[in-house]
Amino acid sequence: MNYSEKVMDHFQHPRNVGEIEGASGVGTVGNAKCGDIMRIFLDIDENQVIRDCKFKTFGCGAAVATSSMATEMVKGKTIQEAMEVTNKAVMEALDGLPPVKVHCSLLAEEAIHAALWDYCEKNGITIDGLKRPKNDISEGEEEEEY
Ligand code: FES
Repeated sequence: MNYSEKVMDHFQHPRNVGEIEGASGVGTVGNAKCGDIMRIFLDIDENQVIRDCKFKTFGCGAAVATSSMATEMVKGKTIQEAMEVTNKAVMEALDGLPPVKVHCSLLAEEAIHAALWDYCEKNGITIDGLKRPKNDISEGEEEEEY
């Protein structure tokens, strides 16, 4: 399997690993099919700008690399702009992922959405296009071929 240099770099030197104490929003999602779990912490200021973002995962290398890149990309964005950090955008920033690893990049996107949802619920606000997150992203997914 071929991974881009950027994927290898983020896998070997992941950015933003850790936790944020008293985070503004925390989101945890898993994929029951592979058993991987992702947790994202967001620190959001009074202008709804993401000041900091950290992640912890029990995930494969592609999940680590995409979360590392995704956390870098949401930092400094408003909560609405953070919705543009889709798994596709993250994959492009990493110069692509092998097709069988594309689902791994969804863990990061879904965990960010779950953390944003948590923040919105705590603060009584909404974000356009943000839906209630699933705990298990493989739920309702079509059977994939491996
Ligand atoms: Fe589970 Fe990659 S194999 S997230």
